[in-house]
Amino acid sequence: MKTKFISLIILFTVSIGLFSFSENNKENYQNSTAIELVDIPENVKTILDNKCMGCHSNDAKGGKSKMKMNFDKISDGSYSNGKLASKFGKMTKVLGKNKMPPKKLLAKYPDKKLTPEESKILMGWATEQRLVLNKE
Ligand code: HEC
Repeated sequence: MKTKFISLIILFTVSIGLFSFSENNKENYQNSTAIELVDIPENVKTILDNKCMGCHSNDAKGGKSKMKMNFDKISDGSYSNGKLASKFGKMTKVLGKNKMPPKKLLAKYPDKKLTPEESKILMGWATEQRLVLNKE
């Protein structure tokens, strides 16, 4: 009973966070015509740092993973808005299918698996970003 209540509170807080995040971003995007520098909120950043950046950052070793998605480059002006929208689309796709982090990694490091809560946060963020970018 108590845990149910706590989960409800967490869910509520996350929803409010996502909502105000998207409202803020809408304003930013509408005020600018240049390439967007995507803002990564703290809760998203923590998850990316822990579970994705090892393969998807400037410092990552893998060539293919980095080429397909580099989270450092979404906020440094490297990608056009169209490209960004497509990257976020791919992100929702892989998250929806539970494809990332790859099974091969999880076999060795099970703690790298996204929790349902983390997956939901990343999914919400990517979905919002894609919607905003597609409205440009
Ligand atoms: C162990 C390394 C590794 C980790 C950790 C990892 N990925 Fe990947 N990722 C890959 C590789 C390799 C590919 C390229 C797969 C391919 O195209 O065959 C990829 C591809 C992707 C793509 C592009 C898919 C496409 O179709 O273009 C996205 C988006 C992505 N990963 C998101 C994530 C997210 C989000 C996380 C964290 C939750 C994550 N990845 C964690 C290795 C990794």
